[in-house]
Amino acid sequence: MTLSREELARSGSLEELYGKLDRVGMGPGWNKPTPSLWASPRKTFRPAHWSYERARGALDAAGRLINTELAERRNLILFNPAEGNTYGTVRTIVAAYQMIMPGEWARAHRHTPNALRLILDAEPGTYTTVDGTDIAMEPGDVLLTPNWSTHGHGNDSKACAYWLDFLDAPLVQLLEPMFFEPQEEDSNHEAFEHEPAAPTKESPFVFTLAETLRRLDAAPADPAGPFATSVELGSPALDTIALHMMRLAPGTRTAQHRSTANNVYAVVRGRGVTTVDGEAFAWARGDVIAAPAWRPHCHEAADDALLLRVTDEPVLQKLGFYRTDA
Ligand SMILES: [Fe+2]
Repeated sequence: MTLSREELARSGSLEELYGKLDRVGMGPGWNKPTPSLWASPRKTFRPAHWSYERARGALDAAGRLINTELAERRNLILFNPAEGNTYGTVRTIVAAYQMIMPGEWARAHRHTPNALRLILDAEPGTYTTVDGTDIAMEPGDVLLTPNWSTHGHGNDSKACAYWLDFLDAPLVQLLEPMFFEPQEEDSNHEAFEHEPAAPTKESPFVFTLAETLRRLDAAPADPAGPFATSVELGSPALDTIALHMMRLAPGTRTAQHRSTANNVYAVVRGRGVTTVDGEAFAWARGDVIAAPAWRPHCHEAADDALLLRVTDEPVLQKLGFYRTDA
């Protein structure tokens, strides 16, 4: 039952007014249950670390227990331990480990979330089809599937293939422009007949490790800076996500850094420790570290290390919200 202007105007006390306001879908801005502005970014999402070794164990079990007919993707979501969160690795980005078995095809689809993957372990014969082109997947390669590109994954090798996916899906969920469409396929996917004769690496959608290493060799070293030696993949790689490959020589300790952007680090090679807002995480190849926005963090390498930095910086920059204290 709604209330008239006169009935609202007759409220004799604040308590009475609050009760009536509630009934007409309004709230007193001077008496909010929670503040809507605060002095600086809150620590909602938490520093966190995920182990590839553990993920492999779980994926190998999943390989026995679920197939790609039943699962759109056989993947493990790295959800941040923030209270109430079940999806994002940080506020805007979700990371997931994925595995595809020999002879399998993870059926093609397209969606508005932008995605990329970092290949961890894959034998020749593993490929991603992006808009009809079969692109070879090799360890250390970074492969893009931007907004609305059709993509599926195939494995014609003899070994299981593992990689890390990163998507801006949490951001798309927040802003609401979510669209998803499976590609129509006959139940016997053509991949089983279609043997991708020679998946290519000639594609704007792939950054090969070999090329990235060549660029790192030529890049200026800044061991004391926050990013050591670093090259950007793309500019940015995706509308919402920038990618930087960082190389840390043994013993490097980077400067502590924070910004309003979220950073997710994936270990391409090496061992070391990343400290995020006072929490130290020891990492090895394939591990993932979440450094949520405004959390100071730095890295220390025990041996020659490569870290892929996945960040929503382009979003913050476009919107005028990017700040750093570096
Ligand atoms: Fe996808």
